[in-house]
Amino acid sequence: MSAQLEGLVAIVTGGASGIGAAIAAALADEGAQVAVLDRDPSGADPRFTAVAADVSDRAGVERAVADVAGRFGRIDILVNNAGIGAQGDIAANDDDEWARVLSVNVTGIARVTAAALPWLRQSPSAAVCNTSSIAATAGLPQRALYSASKGAVLSLTRAMAADHLREGIRVNAVNPGTADTPWVGRLLSTAPDPAAERAALEARQPHGRLVSADEVAGAVLYLVSPRSGSTTGTYIEVDGGMSGLRLRPAQS
Ligand SMILES: NC(=O)c1ccc[n+]([C@@H]2O[C@H](COP(=O)([O-])OP(=O)(O)OC[C@H]3O[C@@H](n4cnc5c(N)ncnc54)[C@H](O)[C@@H]3O)[C@@H](O)[C@H]2O)c1
Repeated sequence: MSAQLEGLVAIVTGGASGIGAAIAAALADEGAQVAVLDRDPSGADPRFTAVAADVSDRAGVERAVADVAGRFGRIDILVNNAGIGAQGDIAANDDDEWARVLSVNVTGIARVTAAALPWLRQSPSAAVCNTSSIAATAGLPQRALYSASKGAVLSLTRAMAADHLREGIRVNAVNPGTADTPWVGRLLSTAPDPAAERAALEARQPHGRLVSADEVAGAVLYLVSPRSGSTTGTYIEVDGGMSGLRLRPAQS
């Protein structure tokens, strides 16, 4: 069978690290030409075109997307993966922090997708995939702002899927559980007892370990592949069963 994405051009935001880097690699392995759009593209794999852009800056996003389209002449796949965290309960963050996180995690998707839309409309197999989170569907402690942003990503995914279905653009999302990425590494390093914190995060997922970035990338590859032409307006949970399973305690 030929590579699934041969001849297609993909943009992956936040593709210089963690889940985004794994997604970029998975798409390239299936034949796509990949452009990584990242606020800090220094860590991007040199086999990808790296474009510096902050998804919270509309003019910068428009320049970056035009740059990619100018180089490749088309955009078929957009993975809106760039995101930042926020900790604390509903009172923990001030208005500026709420605006900053929502601007990256939610409005960032709107900015990049709007800039790419004219190109996606011309693609014979256009697909968008947004990175949401287990935080969108499970109530996690001390993640009020982050969870609100990721819930919005799911709602936005469905609305986008409805708006663009008849233009031939599919829109889906992926909901990772806690994944083993530099982001989580940074979180663990600030914990009073990083090993205990990691063990607690692993135990929270029914399969007893962190999700790998490659496992998330596999789901994204499925969602954006032209072979998944009937899949739109939905999401795949890659969370070791965390969102849906209720296991009895293990027997010792
Ligand atoms: N790691 C997890 O446990 C986990 C779980 C669920 C969902 N997610 C989501 O997955 C996505 C990727 O997370 P990760 O763990 O790979 O993080 P990461 O910090 O390892 O990588 C994020 C990348 O996004 C880039 N980025 C951040 N803000 C940006 C901006 N404003 N504009 C452009 N690029 C920006 C960073 O430079 C970095 O390269 C995020 O949307 C996150 O919310 C992560």
